[in-house]
Amino acid sequence: MALVSAQEIEAFEDRLGAAVRSGEVDDLDVIGYGEVTIAVKLSTESGDFVCKRLAPLSSEESAARIAEVIARYVGALEQCGIDVVETETPYLEGRDCWVLYCVQPMLPPGSLGPDFLRNLSADEAAPHVRRIFENIRASVTPLVAPDGQLSNWAFDGDRLRYLDVGTPFLRDEDGEELFDFTEVVRALPAPMRLVVHRFLLRGILDNYHSLRGQALDFLGNLIKESLGNLFPSLVPVANEMFELAPKITEDEVRSHYKSDAQTYALIQAARRADRWVHRHVLRKPYPYLLPPRIERSA
Ligand SMILES: Nc1ncnc2c1ncn2[C@@H]1O[C@H](COP(=O)(O)OP(=O)(O)OP(=O)(O)O)[C@@H](O)[C@H]1O
Ligand SMILES: [Mg+2]
Repeated sequence: MALVSAQEIEAFEDRLGAAVRSGEVDDLDVIGYGEVTIAVKLSTESGDFVCKRLAPLSSEESAARIAEVIARYVGALEQCGIDVVETETPYLEGRDCWVLYCVQPMLPPGSLGPDFLRNLSADEAAPHVRRIFENIRASVTPLVAPDGQLSNWAFDGDRLRYLDVGTPFLRDEDGEELFDFTEVVRALPAPMRLVVHRFLLRGILDNYHSLRGQALDFLGNLIKESLGNLFPSLVPVANEMFELAPKITEDEVRSHYKSDAQTYALIQAARRADRWVHRHVLRKPYPYLLPPRIERSA
């Protein structure tokens, strides 16, 4: 049985679509902004769900294709022993575009990685992080990779669950992406889109398919999550578990984080500028919801 019915998701899209057009999100229960996805809570008679709306898509075919790639991605991760949160991918026609949702049961508050580790000492956190690293080690190959960051894992009772499947890092035998990243890159302003697509995308994606890249991302991201106190003692854990040679260092993690933070800030600034142009020059609604300016810890 479907987690959320077709009518429920249509009614939900009416609300969310209106919020995107007006830029007013106060009536929505937004629980997370990704680079391109927004995650909103939906309460129904059968429980609470998280609906993650992917960037608007150009056609029904491309929505259908993405739904198929996400299903394959979930299957590939499960084959590696990852416990993926049950995910449905309904898609429907919005205004001038198609939208696809990843719908999942909402995990209990406090179970998400950053919340779960929030009040633990480095020693207490280490065994939990080791579990995540085991999952990363078991799944990262040239063909498949999770986005291993802490915010994509939840400690749900005895289960370690993975929840971020909206951007499938999945390649065929020839190394071609199965997911059409042009659909994601479309969320960027035009000049940036070209640069990202032509020069940066492959490198960004390669990073996920390497244990070294995963380690730097995971540890650097702890700084962003204000869990920077945890990362120094986890550097040797990553070196040992991922058998990294040469070993990564604290400095390398810090500079990885810094360049990631700069890229993120640049992208968000460009998108805000693009939104301004849409609203004030083109006099068209800006078709995305942008995250509020966030404070990242330095
Ligand atoms: N099933 C869920 N239950 C509770 N919270 C969730 C659930 N799914 C997502 N969230 C919250 O929303 C955040 C964003 O979701 P997710 O990681 O799937 O997408 P994203 O990282 O925004 O996507 P992108 O890959 O586009 O950056 C999560 O880090 C988590 O805090
Ligand atoms: Mg995520």
